[in-house]
Amino acid sequence: MVQQKIIILDFGSQTTQLIGRRLRELHTFCEIVPYDKFPFEEEGVIGVILSGSPYSVYAPDAFKVDLSNIRGHYPVLGICYGAQFMAQLYGGCVEATGSREYGRAQLHFPDKNNVLLRGFRDGSQVWMSHGDTITALPHGFSVIASTDTVKYAAYQADDGTLWGVQFHPEAFHSEQGMLLLKNFAVDICGSRQDWSPASFIDSSVETLKRQLDNDRVILGLSGGVDSSVAAVLLNRAIGKSLTCIFVNHGLLRKGEFESVMRDYECLGLNVIGVDASTRFFSALRYVDDPEKKRKIIGSCFIDVFEEEARKIDGVKWLAQGTIYPDCIESMNITGKVIKSHHNVGGLPEKMQLRLCEPLRWLFKDEVRRVGIQLGMPEHLINRHPFPGPGLAVRILGEVTPEKVRILQDADDIFINALRKWKCKDGHFLYDMIWQAGAILLPVRSVGVMGDERTYEQTVALRAVTSTDAMSADWAQLPYQFLAQVSNEIINNVKGVNRVCYDISSKPPATIEWE
Ligand code: XMP
Repeated sequence: MVQQKIIILDFGSQTTQLIGRRLRELHTFCEIVPYDKFPFEEEGVIGVILSGSPYSVYAPDAFKVDLSNIRGHYPVLGICYGAQFMAQLYGGCVEATGSREYGRAQLHFPDKNNVLLRGFRDGSQVWMSHGDTITALPHGFSVIASTDTVKYAAYQADDGTLWGVQFHPEAFHSEQGMLLLKNFAVDICGSRQDWSPASFIDSSVETLKRQLDNDRVILGLSGGVDSSVAAVLLNRAIGKSLTCIFVNHGLLRKGEFESVMRDYECLGLNVIGVDASTRFFSALRYVDDPEKKRKIIGSCFIDVFEEEARKIDGVKWLAQGTIYPDCIESMNITGKVIKSHHNVGGLPEKMQLRLCEPLRWLFKDEVRRVGIQLGMPEHLINRHPFPGPGLAVRILGEVTPEKVRILQDADDIFINALRKWKCKDGHFLYDMIWQAGAILLPVRSVGVMGDERTYEQTVALRAVTSTDAMSADWAQLPYQFLAQVSNEIINNVKGVNRVCYDISSKPPATIEWE
């Protein structure tokens, strides 16, 4: 059965991804594409959403889309800018309000039975965020909801082809926003709501079998969730035609290479573990510039990976655990790159392999759910993100094996304590946190242990809460917990006599120190 999908045309709004998330929560598959890249050739499209935008529809450089081959072929919902754009395109009027309409508002309806708003309460709260407003609807359009200040809060074209809402149904503060999106996806577009981790696995396995046939595929494992789930999914599709390569650069957490290798073997993966730590340490000797460290690690990784891959005959594909937010960010149409990605950039071009990215349509939590559905152990699925260059970006200054040893020991105490500490609500502290780790600072300070003066190093602890790593708050860990971890580190990690806790949020700080 062809996969149904709703296409979201992205006009550059910050909430475009959120619209996608909400549809997925409704078990409806969707793809976000730049506003001018409608995939006319794709099968299964059942509806279209036009997102918001940072621009005004009347700005000279505003993004515009030709709807002539879309209207009447698929139902269209415009949100905020999307609604204003359609109103203007078909002969209505959009003007600056003079003041931003921002925040909560209550909806009122002339027609309670309109299909888009079916089930809405009168006075239902919605979230507004716009500086322009529609002041006249096109001929043949009708208003279906208003607020006290916005007359055309929602409208529809009388021929049943278009709907527009000036508020944001995807925003948390729009109380019945999910209902509106459901009315659109299910009642208007006819979504079967059959998108789920299980259906994703079935359809991906089938597609991968067809796409890869009997070709040999290699995949670089990092120990992280994305590459691991991609490997297990591919393993289900093509079994031993997949060879995974797990490079140990010596900068992983304490004991991690061995324990993750064991996990991979239990999962039945065909995996080659390469211990290249000596090589990485030599390349990093005397280097203290953070960007240089990253570059050296990246290029060393590519060399090791390539050497291993060359030992395998007839490889045609390179598989990667790229996930959806990576793709959306890299195609950000307003040109403002929020975060650069530091995976194995350059590898596919250099090796002249075809690229296979089975998770490129999934959000992080969906990747986790697919992993669970594939029977992967929870500790592998729920692990915190960890940077590709590993502990090198948590050792300020030159990286040496001795510093890595100190940091691994301190980090291990911290992470194990997070795993063991139960919060009042029964959750473990580890699971309440996005990411945590220890950082080794390039300073020594005086201390006293027993009757002896010490002059040793400082470790900073970092723990943050976040939903996507683009912004993060420092985690308010219990004092008692911090006291216990500090004691344990100072008493057990030789070379450390002081522990600090990092209380900076992102922005302005970043999660990693380098
Ligand atoms: P920052 O420090 O930019 O980190 O706030 C945001 C997220 O990205 C991870 N990170 C990296 N991941 N290679 C990676 O694969 C890197 O060079 C790198 N630098 C930061 C970081 O751990 C956090 O999850």
